[in-house]
Amino acid sequence: MRRDTNAAGDVFGGWVASHMDLAASTAAEDRAGCKCATVAVDGLVFHRPMAVGDELNVYTRILRVGRTSMTIEVEAIRRVRRTAIRQKVTQARFTFVALDQDGRPCLVDR
Ligand SMILES: CC(C)(COP(=O)(O)OP(=O)(O)OC[C@H]1O[C@@H](n2cnc3c(N)ncnc32)[C@H](O)[C@@H]1OP(=O)(O)O)[C@@H](O)C(=O)NCCC(=O)NCCS
Repeated sequence: MRRDTNAAGDVFGGWVASHMDLAASTAAEDRAGCKCATVAVDGLVFHRPMAVGDELNVYTRILRVGRTSMTIEVEAIRRVRRTAIRQKVTQARFTFVALDQDGRPCLVDR
């Protein structure tokens, strides 16, 4: 939507990144079965801009499960409105930490 644009008129990169974080957190919490917090984002690359009206599709893959952390590879793909054109706009690796009820890191089943 237009409210999600930057000064240049493209979709704000932070809006895309926040949806990637949401998708990755869903994957992490499904894997760990508990609340997880984002602890790091690595390799964030914006390949091309997104335009108002594009559809955003976000895909996740678990790359690594550590003791209490997990690294999720995330790709954001734009589909140009009313077309079959799909292009990768952004990618990154998100690391999450599984948390217990007191907010402390807890073990993830491997
Ligand atoms: C998540 C948090 C509780 C972890 O606490 P911590 O004291 O760093 O915990 P630890 O040192 O025991 O590290 C926990 C795990 O995170 C990993 N980790 C910590 N910092 C990291 C970083 N910068 N990059 C990658 N992994 C990291 C550690 O390697 C460890 O993984 P492992 O158990 O699989 O080996 C704490 O950093 C925190 O509260 N951060 C803020 C989270 C937040 O507000 N996120 C944004 C909103 S969700």
